[in-house]
Amino acid sequence: MNSVTVRAPSSTANLGPGFDVFGLALDAFYDEVQLTKQKHGISIITDDSIPVSPRKNTTGLVVEYMKKKFRIKSGVQIRIKKGVPAGFGMGSSAASAAATAVAFNKLFSLGLDGNTLVECAGVGELASAGSIHYDNVSASVLGGFIIVRTKPLDVIKILPPSDLRLVVAVPKITVPKKKTQVSRSVVPKHIPLSDSVVNLANASSIVAGFVRKDSELIGKSIQDVIIEPARAHLIPGFYQVKKNSLKAGALGVTISGAGPSVISFATKKSNLKKIADAMKKGFANKRIDSQIVICKPSNGAKTI
Ligand code: HSE
Repeated sequence: MNSVTVRAPSSTANLGPGFDVFGLALDAFYDEVQLTKQKHGISIITDDSIPVSPRKNTTGLVVEYMKKKFRIKSGVQIRIKKGVPAGFGMGSSAASAAATAVAFNKLFSLGLDGNTLVECAGVGELASAGSIHYDNVSASVLGGFIIVRTKPLDVIKILPPSDLRLVVAVPKITVPKKKTQVSRSVVPKHIPLSDSVVNLANASSIVAGFVRKDSELIGKSIQDVIIEPARAHLIPGFYQVKKNSLKAGALGVTISGAGPSVISFATKKSNLKKIADAMKKGFANKRIDSQIVICKPSNGAKTI
């Protein structure tokens, strides 16, 4: 085999109270990465406006890391097609990193397990997020709902209920270059025990919801009293979008990953169009246009 192409989904991290721990793959957007063996070095080809220097590119870092870790002598050409909007809390760099790790594994017949693929893809997050966290990459690699344990890295996947639906509002605003660093800098270093108890109860209920395939339990447990209040001011119109969506029937609403996208949790039976319109109006109140996507949980990265 000389060439492999992999498609990896967007994802939402945190799901409210599961900061840096929960991830959910979403069939909203996809990135495609093709890896081809070449004689020497690592080269990147893309039509998208992303860095093509391997050390500054998510996929380049993953290939460099995997080449070294698995002692692969061959050079690798990387072709990238971005579909996941970058910098909006939809796991854009993670999707590219996940696709790369899965493609590399296949191209060189390494037979790696899920945890190792996630570990390799996580290296790519350094390029954009400045720190490694595995919530988005795990979801993009494995699909479904993910719980990330660290020290040592251990990723747990649960299949989402088939009636779970998500409505994502991606505001058309300019995001800071180092958006994730900015939104991580406002997260409190110390929290009251009572807040941690509330979040722990909600996070546990989300897990129970996925295990029981109970979308209503998942939706109503999407409540975060620690990170969301600290980050809300970075998203103009956030509280209006949230209020409108809940009024339109969403079960729970929160920031998608580090934002600025906002995600509503609902079921197949909800009036999804009404929720979508309500979210759009919330941003429009602040004169902000937004892209609204109604979607389902997704499978993980796949060879195409
Ligand atoms: N869990 C991360 C955060 C996701 O919220 O900062 C962003 O990459």
